[in-house]
Amino acid sequence: MIDYFNISKQDKNIKKKILKDISKVISNNNFILGKPVNDFEKKFSNFCNVKYAVSCANGTDALFLALKSLNLPKNSEVILPAMTWISTILSVINNNLKPVLVDIEKGTPLISIKNIKKKINSHTKVILPVHLYGSVVDVRGIKKIIKNKNIFIIDDAAQAHGARNLDNKKVGSLSDISCFSFYPGKNLGCYGDGGIITTNNKTICNKIRKLRNLGSEKKHVHDEIGINSRLDTIQATILLNKINKLNFFNSKRYKIAKYYNNNINNIKITKIQYSKKSIYHQYVIMLKNRNLLIRKFKKNKIPFGIHYPKPLHKLECFKKLFKGKKFPNSEELANSCISLPIDPNLNKNKIYKIVKILNSF
Ligand SMILES: Cc1ncc(COP(=O)(O)O)c(C=O)c1O
Repeated sequence: MIDYFNISKQDKNIKKKILKDISKVISNNNFILGKPVNDFEKKFSNFCNVKYAVSCANGTDALFLALKSLNLPKNSEVILPAMTWISTILSVINNNLKPVLVDIEKGTPLISIKNIKKKINSHTKVILPVHLYGSVVDVRGIKKIIKNKNIFIIDDAAQAHGARNLDNKKVGSLSDISCFSFYPGKNLGCYGDGGIITTNNKTICNKIRKLRNLGSEKKHVHDEIGINSRLDTIQATILLNKINKLNFFNSKRYKIAKYYNNNINNIKITKIQYSKKSIYHQYVIMLKNRNLLIRKFKKNKIPFGIHYPKPLHKLECFKKLFKGKKFPNSEELANSCISLPIDPNLNKNKIYKIVKILNSF
């Protein structure tokens, strides 16, 4: 059987240790903001080469908290890609800010930087790029176009744990604030929901630390209007174990992606362009007759994903908001994308079988 992604198999060797550590949390009665939460925040900030990391309940909240910490005037504009997971835009709307969509660069999963430039005006307060599929946005390029303007960059790094930019700098250290998700299927995931925010800005870090804990750092002192969005101690314990295997698994994904890159040669398939040091959260190809391949995959029991079938402006809840707007590259990717299995434990035979099917339909 070919797995799309098998967490239980990936964690087989560390399961015993994880269960032992969870048992310790239970014995210590230390479920909320216990020591492992602090330990994990330190470990994650070291991993990203960034000064501060504040954990929270999930990646959606990480984005919400990051934007909230900036205290922006109502209806300030936030620029984000039209092709991303819904959480990116929800963080904008739920902060009473105005989302401004920008198309992705053709043939890539990433926001077009030249189109960002066209959308910047006096109301623009934040650029929110997404390192989609683990491919890294040229944040330095965005910094160049906003130079001397009072605009923040918050990057959505939910799919990019351990990825690096062309200067070899880790995602998590590239922008003013970075937001990660630890949803189970992410390159680093826990056994439930989890998220984290990284920054080099101490003021922002302290503010988010309060906001995620009902506006409080000291018991019964609430000097911000916050939310309840804490990473469970048990999840932090799991992440402390799993982060040790992240680089190893990322390098395995990289090898699988390289094999796909070098061996898929069906002219019906368009390979999308990834950044050099992508961590391949998803390996996505494009093809016009997607249903034909889906039928073949189903027949041969090859699992697949679609990330995502609709860009943001086509989602039911946003149809009115973005009526008449067109983002052709995002629409093309949504209409033609298929994600191939990229479980780090896929062996050669299985990858060979997948490629054979791809090249022969
Ligand atoms: C690009 C992107 N942003 C945000 C999120 C939200 O993360 P979560 O599911 O942890 O809320 C996800 C993951 O689901 C994601 O893929």
